[in-house]
Amino acid sequence: MRAIANPLSLGTLILCLLGLAAPQVRALEPIQLTPPDLSHSKPLLQVLQERQSTKTYDTRSIPVDTLSNLLWAAFGINRPEAGKRTVATAVNCQDIDIYVVFAQGVYVYQAREHRLVPVLDRDVRSLAATQDYAQKAAIQLVYVSDYGKMNDSFGAKKPIYSAFHAGAISQNVYLYCASAGLGSVVRDSVDREALHKALKLRDNQTIVMGQTVGYAQAQAVTPEP
Ligand SMILES: Cc1cc2nc3c(=O)[nH]c(=O)nc-3n(C[C@H](O)[C@H](O)[C@H](O)COP(=O)(O)O)c2cc1C
Repeated sequence: MRAIANPLSLGTLILCLLGLAAPQVRALEPIQLTPPDLSHSKPLLQVLQERQSTKTYDTRSIPVDTLSNLLWAAFGINRPEAGKRTVATAVNCQDIDIYVVFAQGVYVYQAREHRLVPVLDRDVRSLAATQDYAQKAAIQLVYVSDYGKMNDSFGAKKPIYSAFHAGAISQNVYLYCASAGLGSVVRDSVDREALHKALKLRDNQTIVMGQTVGYAQAQAVTPEP
């Protein structure tokens, strides 16, 4: 299976040389994800039994097929005719954007196109995960609520709803990870102010929470005496 590397194509290189590529993401190309593998299965109750937070990672990268399943499970479109998603949102506002932080830069998940679009071509892992153990992992997910997608009737409830939505997405991620042999941990340890600035988010976009995903470091096996 193909793993994600730094995807600098000849086309992008030429655009960069001509000064025509977007300035902050000129080294990165969109990543077309593969359709979700709906036959991927493990009994749900077993997956729930295995759901846990992982706090030791190695640096193995995640194959594209696996990342595709992960993002679809997280908040993909499961009813294309209605454009609805794997997580319920108040008045179907779909306010959460998932930013995916790699060593080479940051992408945002576009559910309709089921692809990752680059938004930043620098390494901001230390902002997306301020704890050392998490920075080793393959990716950091950052859940950003766009309050602009919530109408005025939400009033003061916007933070409650966005936290609720991000929480449901994070549980989908935990469950997919448990089913696919990946480790994960949802984290408050995000430098929200610096990351907000680095990603050039608008004032009405709020970083709700981060979530690390990667392969758990193999446990050292103690030989029998
Ligand atoms: C809202 C929330 C914030 C969390 N923030 C952090 C964090 O900043 N750093 C961290 O290492 N773990 C964080 N965790 C993970 C918890 O430490 C973990 O869920 C808890 O120890 C229970 O373990 P379990 O998920 O394996 O059941 C957070 C969990 C939640 C739900």
